[in-house]
Amino acid sequence: MIKIAVLVSGSGSNLQALIDANLSGQIVGVISNKPEAYALQRAKTAGIETAVIEHKQYPSREAFDDVMHQKLLDWNVDLVVLAGFMRILSARFVEAWQGKMVNIHPSLLPYYKGMHTHQRVLNTGDVLHGCTVHYVTAELDAGQALTQAVLKVKADDTVDSLANRVHELEHLIYPQAVEWICNGTIQHTPQGVLFRKKTMNEPIQFCKF
Ligand code: GAR
Repeated sequence: MIKIAVLVSGSGSNLQALIDANLSGQIVGVISNKPEAYALQRAKTAGIETAVIEHKQYPSREAFDDVMHQKLLDWNVDLVVLAGFMRILSARFVEAWQGKMVNIHPSLLPYYKGMHTHQRVLNTGDVLHGCTVHYVTAELDAGQALTQAVLKVKADDTVDSLANRVHELEHLIYPQAVEWICNGTIQHTPQGVLFRKKTMNEPIQFCKF
């Protein structure tokens, strides 16, 4: 059974969706860089081990990442799931977990990498928005996309309304993507990412119109 660690910084609604999904993998631990993150309560309620590793207490990004890395090794983790983890990871850490670490990002990547995605979508006047699950590589929000959910932006949408609807979609596609990794439907191989043993060039897309 695949052992999963979830890295969080905030509310942890995606962590909750992963817990509730009864994955065929096991969530063995949750790491937060913020002691006050509500995600820690969610993990404790579900009986999952937690670790707080505060980035502020380390002199460099690398030093912080090394402590996280060691914790993941201690837990024998096979898959690292970033769920609202708001720290940029060092190249060394990303390299160590290459092909074994996924993230969810609140935009239709490759559009709107980085922060404030909902505001930027509204500013541009886009018709479509959504979220993307992707492998993590050294370049920010640029690893291969696995699943995407698409919604239509409404004329009266605000940052909050968009954030809420994107969140709902995240809770659908993140457990699905993680389950596909756990059960071998998605495989990361030296020849590329496979979906049902065939090369995956495009993410699997879900639309909610
Ligand atoms: C989610 O919307 C996720 O897409 C975003 O943080 C939120 C966490 O919510 N992640 C990023 O912006 C990463 N760049 P949650 O704590 O309720 O799961």
